Order: sequence, then structure tokens, then C-alpha cells
Amino acid sequence: MDDLKSKYLTLIAEAGDEATLEDIRITAVGKKGEVALKMRELGKMTPEERQVAGPALNALKDEINSALAAKKAALADAALDERLRSEWLDVTLPTRPQRQGTIHPISQVSEEVTAIFAEMGFSVAEGPRIDTDWYNFDALNIPGHHPARAEMDTFYMHRAEGDNRPPHVLRTHTSPVQIRSMEASGAPTRIICPGGVYRADYDQTHTPMFHQVEGLAIDKDISMANLKWVLEEFVKSYFEVDGVDLRFRASHFPFTEPSAEVDIRCSWEGGTLKVGEGDDWLEILGSGMVHPKVLQAGGIDPNEWQGFAFGMGIDRIAMLKYGIPDLRAFFDSDLRWLRHYGFAALDVPTLHGGLSR
Ligand code: DAH
Repeated sequence: MDDLKSKYLTLIAEAGDEATLEDIRITAVGKKGEVALKMRELGKMTPEERQVAGPALNALKDEINSALAAKKAALADAALDERLRSEWLDVTLPTRPQRQGTIHPISQVSEEVTAIFAEMGFSVAEGPRIDTDWYNFDALNIPGHHPARAEMDTFYMHRAEGDNRPPHVLRTHTSPVQIRSMEASGAPTRIICPGGVYRADYDQTHTPMFHQVEGLAIDKDISMANLKWVLEEFVKSYFEVDGVDLRFRASHFPFTEPSAEVDIRCSWEGGTLKVGEGDDWLEILGSGMVHPKVLQAGGIDPNEWQGFAFGMGIDRIAMLKYGIPDLRAFFDSDLRWLRHYGFAALDVPTLHGGLSR
């Protein structure tokens, strides 16, 4: 028995792979293996002999089995170590500058906008792109009969017969995130929400999917003056100019009262846009003081709190800043376009490090 033991333990220790181990298992402790053969001999023994040999054989079998299991685990560990060694990859290494992948202008501009508003204490909120018509319309004071619903060219989700979940739409703007973030974190609050939105429309300046950034600030004493300052700071930082004239034009949105559209002074001399000088005006966003009904829909008491909101087209401000003439090109995935208008992957926009350099 001692011979058997040392023979097999040595073989196991020397085995170099799982197949060899399996062969050893079969010849040692398999149904017709050496240990099984010895067990058969028990029948010919006297009861006294059997009382000694029986447990000893069982112990031998156990010992061989656990040596096999331990060796199997060790082989697996060694195989994994070898794989880790050979497939090792340093994911923290910088990308290679000669590689041609670039950051899409929409991602770049979203990062720029986020960096600017972060500096002013706004955090980023998110909401679903497929939302209920309640969040997209009703909660924003756009009831069923309101013309704004028709104007938005909404994509409605198909509903199967008997489906009694509320109707869902592809969100037509980022404004529903106002309601969701009021519900989630109450007042006071300061958030922006960049993200994709959808409308059934397609020409040089419209695509069925595009991007907006929503802003919302609620506190006890927020006024239009705060809105104006925040937007001025934003426009200066974003267009990287020292000064800029903003023009507030009275307008109407169901979710704000009063409402204003905001234009910036610019010139188109020589066919290129210059922000902050000239005699032209360029509309860049809609804004206003949040309507009391909207605050209420978000669970905030309009007698205690007030705030401003704004909504701006990300693709539009990207086109303006980077001189991109056709909106549709954003979504064509043409590599030549992406190489021309894309940004280096490592130049993360920050206010101190430079937004777009
Ligand atoms: N949701 C509007 C749109 O998509 C944009 C907008 C206007 C958002 C005024 C606002 C706002 O938050 O106050 O056209």
C-alpha cells in the first residue's frame, strides 16, 4: 500500500497537464484501477485482516483523490497565470497619436458645456430617451390639445392591443428631465441635462435625432437676472470670447412664464461667423422662469420656490463654434468628416486647460 501511495503521489506531482492527471486517476482510483483491484482482495481476507486493510485502502483512495484535486487546481492556476502573462495589456497607456480615432464634435461640445456649467455649480442629470407622454408633455404644461404637441412632430411608440401602460414617446426635448430631477432631488437644485432627442423632421438643419442641453436652477430667490448672468457666462466661455451681447426676446413656451428666446450678437462677414461683434443676431436658445404648474408637477411648492430653465441645441452650437455647415453630416459616420471635425481623444475640455485646444 505504501508503494502504491508513493508511486501515485509522485506521478501526480510530476503530471504536466490535465489529460495526464485524468489517466493517472483512471489507473489509480478508477472503477478498474489498482486501488479497486486491491479492494476486491478484501473478500479473501480474514475479518481481522479486513478490519485493518479496509480503512487503510479507503484512506489511500481519499489521499490520491485529494492529491489529484489539488494538482488540478494548481495546473489551472498556472494556466491562468500564463494567460495573464501572455495577454497582459496596460490599459492606462496613452493612445497612440498616429491613430486616427477622434472624438465626435457632439461628444466634445457636450463635454465643453458640462465643464462650463460644472464651474457654476450645475451637476449633470439624465433621463430616458423613451419617456411617457406625461413627462414629455403634460407635466410640462402641454395638455393634449396644445398646439406644441403637434408642432413637435412626435414619434409615438407602437402600443399592442390591450397594452394599458401609459403611452410612450421618443422624447422630443430634454425638458422632461426637469420633472424627473425635481422628483428625484427636490429643491433647491441646479442641473443640466445633455442628451439625444427625436422629432420627425429631416433637412439641412433638422435630423430625426439631435441633441439638446436643458438647464434648471431652483431656489428661493432665483430671477431672470440670474438666468441672464448664467447664460452670458456660458456664451463667453463656450465661444471663448471676452465679451458678448445677449438679446432677450419675449417669447412663449408652455413650461415657462415669462419666456424668452436668447440671441447673441455676431457677424457673418466673409461668410464666417464671429461671435461678440457685428450687427447680426443669432438665436441660440429658449428660456424662462419655470411655470408654477411645472414646479407642482415635479412635486415642488411654487409658493416657496422659483427658478429658471433653458433649452439649447447642442448640434446647433457645435455647428456655430466649429463652422460645420450641414447638420446631417453629424450622423453620416463618414470617416473623412470625422477626421476633419473630430477632436483628439486626450484633450479633455476643462476651463483651466482650455475648452477646445
Ligand atoms: N424644450 C424647448 C424645445 O425643445 C426648449 C426650451 C425652451 C427649454 C425654454 C426650456 C425653456 O427649458 O425654458 O424647443
